[in-house]
Amino acid sequence: MILSRETPHFLPTKGMKSEYYDRIFSMNIKRRVIPTEEIEKQLAICSEVRKEFEGKIPLALVDTFGCQQNEEDSEKIRGYLAEMGFEMTDDEFKADLIVINTCAVREHAEMRVFGNLGALTHAKKENPNQIIAVCGCMVQQEHIVDKIKKSFRHVDLVFGPDELWRFPELIYTVMTKRKRIFAPGSGDGCVAEGIPHLRSDKVKAWLSIMNGCNNFCTYCIVPYTRFRERSRQPGEIIAEARELVAAGYKDITLLGQNVNSYGKDLESSVNFAQLIRKVNDIEGDFVIRFMTSHPKDATDELFAAMRDCEKCEKHLHLPLQSGSDRILKAMNRYYNTEKYLALVDRVREFIPDIVLTTDIIVGFPGETDEDFEDTMRVIEKVRFDAMFTFIYSKRVGTPAAEMPDPFTREQKQAHFDRLVETQNRISEEKHREYIGKTVRVLIDGKDREDGVLTARTSGGRLVRVSGGESLIGSFVYVNITDCNTWALRGELV
Ligand code: SAH
Ligand code: SF4
Ligand code: F3S
Repeated sequence: MILSRETPHFLPTKGMKSEYYDRIFSMNIKRRVIPTEEIEKQLAICSEVRKEFEGKIPLALVDTFGCQQNEEDSEKIRGYLAEMGFEMTDDEFKADLIVINTCAVREHAEMRVFGNLGALTHAKKENPNQIIAVCGCMVQQEHIVDKIKKSFRHVDLVFGPDELWRFPELIYTVMTKRKRIFAPGSGDGCVAEGIPHLRSDKVKAWLSIMNGCNNFCTYCIVPYTRFRERSRQPGEIIAEARELVAAGYKDITLLGQNVNSYGKDLESSVNFAQLIRKVNDIEGDFVIRFMTSHPKDATDELFAAMRDCEKCEKHLHLPLQSGSDRILKAMNRYYNTEKYLALVDRVREFIPDIVLTTDIIVGFPGETDEDFEDTMRVIEKVRFDAMFTFIYSKRVGTPAAEMPDPFTREQKQAHFDRLVETQNRISEEKHREYIGKTVRVLIDGKDREDGVLTARTSGGRLVRVSGGESLIGSFVYVNITDCNTWALRGELV
């Protein structure tokens, strides 16, 4: 049902040369709700796939690149695979089915996928019946699908994020017809409920509240691979959150490319701030996190909900991307540094000890030394607790790919190194402020190498603490005794 639709405030067709992207843009203005019966049909096909293995327990390997949204998609793929009778393996030579869930956000991620795919020829040679599937954001791009068709002939199945709901049917067809299938999404932007999840973590859970993005930041591929914003119904989200709490999950992260615009496409009047309050009302001992927030629509209402809800963690990831107004405009970010800094002041008024983290892109086309110095000034002013830093990566079909980019990789790398060095110092200084304090943390795992327990503060800072494995999944108090740039060291109280 199409109720209302936020028109993207930037038309990507402007200055873009690819007909493919024009088509994607013009097509993907719909919200296609997949009827529950369709998902039931898919689950019935799972039993058919199971029969094809004639009593043998088949093994599957699912490899995930990219963001939490992709992690969550992989949990659905594993959910379907479990229905088909698969058990999971890490060994590509033992796997009957390999699924590579890919990310397109930067070239580096794509190169890694191609590297891994190339290496899989050996496994397939030893086991010619093996099925290799590639899904995720990368294969929502025409030039990538062409490349896989031509140069990676051992790949049997390709499907975009929007076709995940019919994964069982696609696998069944590959198995029974023994032909290659290419099913990138149509661009409709589907919403599907009722796909089973197989979650690997027992403490932390991803809860996708929406999909897609309407923002068209000029550097970013996501709006072309995930299509327009569509929110899940609040009732479905609350029901899933209740199930997670009942199953013992302690840490629930609400996911979306831009959670602050949650609900704008729905008839229901629940916005993101109200959704946090509703999840907070669920009884139980758990915490709520969320990502990601776009600064252009972070509101007082959101900050008030974060402050008022005792289960909502006091952490805001607010991607700045650049501290130069000129570059922010070229990025189509819809705020300037003045507005961003005012927002930081505002959230600190509501929640004085809020942990703030951010993303920065270095070397956006045309970014000068001066622009970069502007970014450095904003960084010093805000003093983020942590930062994800990226060197700009040109994405086919995005407007920024058409912009003049006269600066060399070396110049960009020098800026990048300076930024990282500065942020490392700030992160360590911020961490030092914890020393001597007692903080409540959730123990969420164990370091594989040295067996030390890992925990997260309310602000999401990593704490390493010695203790027994039985503590995993408990909230405990720790004294912070030491730190470095990346983590705090604590002792159980
Ligand atoms: N929707 C989220 C996250 C998008 S991807 C948001 O807007 O915050 C995560 C981060 O990757 C972005 O915040 C941005 O910093 C970075 N990124 C996206 N496209 C990029 C590109 N082409 N080159 C380099 N970094 C990029
Ligand atoms: Fe990409 Fe995020 Fe911008 Fe959307 S808001 S276009 S996902 S960087
Ligand atoms: Fe990558 Fe797609 Fe996520 S491009 S960052 S996997 S939305």
